[in-house]
Amino acid sequence: MQARPVCERVQWVGAVDWNRRLFDALIPLPDGTSYNSYLVRGSEKTALIDAVDPAMLPCLMGALADVPEIHYVVAQHAEQDHSGGIPAVLARYPKAQLLCSAKAKSLLMEHLHVAEERIRTVADGETVSLGDRSLRFIYTPWVHWPETMVTLLPEDKILFTCDFFGSHYATSDLYAGENPAVREAAKRYYAEIMMPFRSAIQGNLKKIEALKFDVIAPSHGPLFDKPAMIVDAYRDWVSDRVENRVIIPYISMHGSTEAMVERLVRALITRGVDVQPFNLAVTDIGMLAMSLVDAATIVIGTPTVHVGPHPAVFNATHLANALRPKLRYAAIIGSYGWGTQAAEQLAALIPNLKVEVLGTVLCKGMPRPADLAAVDALADTIKTRHGSL
Ligand code: FEO
Repeated sequence: MQARPVCERVQWVGAVDWNRRLFDALIPLPDGTSYNSYLVRGSEKTALIDAVDPAMLPCLMGALADVPEIHYVVAQHAEQDHSGGIPAVLARYPKAQLLCSAKAKSLLMEHLHVAEERIRTVADGETVSLGDRSLRFIYTPWVHWPETMVTLLPEDKILFTCDFFGSHYATSDLYAGENPAVREAAKRYYAEIMMPFRSAIQGNLKKIEALKFDVIAPSHGPLFDKPAMIVDAYRDWVSDRVENRVIIPYISMHGSTEAMVERLVRALITRGVDVQPFNLAVTDIGMLAMSLVDAATIVIGTPTVHVGPHPAVFNATHLANALRPKLRYAAIIGSYGWGTQAAEQLAALIPNLKVEVLGTVLCKGMPRPADLAAVDALADTIKTRHGSL
């Protein structure tokens, strides 16, 4: 792929992966993604910030075809979708030094077998001169690995952030502007990748707020030339604010659980509570993850399979627990044929959720009026709790 100018001394030399539809063999990528790599030319030295996924290495190497020398390769993050191309870059530029955080050093040696003598660690706040340009490294641990850092190019007011503020969004636009589709893709990215580290991100946002920059250049998705859009969005996502909304991940085998879910959806709407059901038979789990960013309540809907919850519900509940959303309330509804421990098993799956459990409503077979009345009562309880948000 061709290099694209970001400013006089900075070029984008990454790869747009239009066709990728799955990340980590888990996360749907409806909009593809990009792996952004940046070439920074100082008057004396040249640096490459992040590489690309090994599958897209020909794009990076093609963009570097006319670059005779690279003095520094900066690894802001050791995960392979950015670092995987680094060994090939180091082989092409045998005098280049690999700059990374102290924690990244062992990860890069272990994951990519980079020779120790090629690596120079940089301290938090350290500046490396490129002549009339410089790179200042700021540690931002846990966005989303322990070794992550960002890089400020103060002379051009560009902040390179790797995964932080990134989005899986393939586009020919270099900049996001205020495109709401990019904000939505960034929210999906935050939900799937960053949300478990919400408190660490709160601290890292404070560090970043102290820096002066006009452009945020992440290593996935377009650059933010109006950075307030993404910084403000992150502030909101990591805040304690939740919305008057219930999400209901569920699945139904013979219609009983679906009838319970439909009743709850109607009851919540009637009571002025926003509600978003997710039929797990057809749901993109990324959408479910996004909904967890700011919902106040989760109600898990499950039929009973071999005494326990349906496996799809088991998976979704495990995911919700792993993502550590800021939910405040939880409940379980569903059904069973002859016996069930689904509620007990689901409750044991969510130790990370600091929620008040509002109750369980399970029906035997198709719901009877008393079951539906119990669902209405659950809606009343949710309405009351949400009144204090
Ligand atoms: Fe885009 Fe954590 O790698």
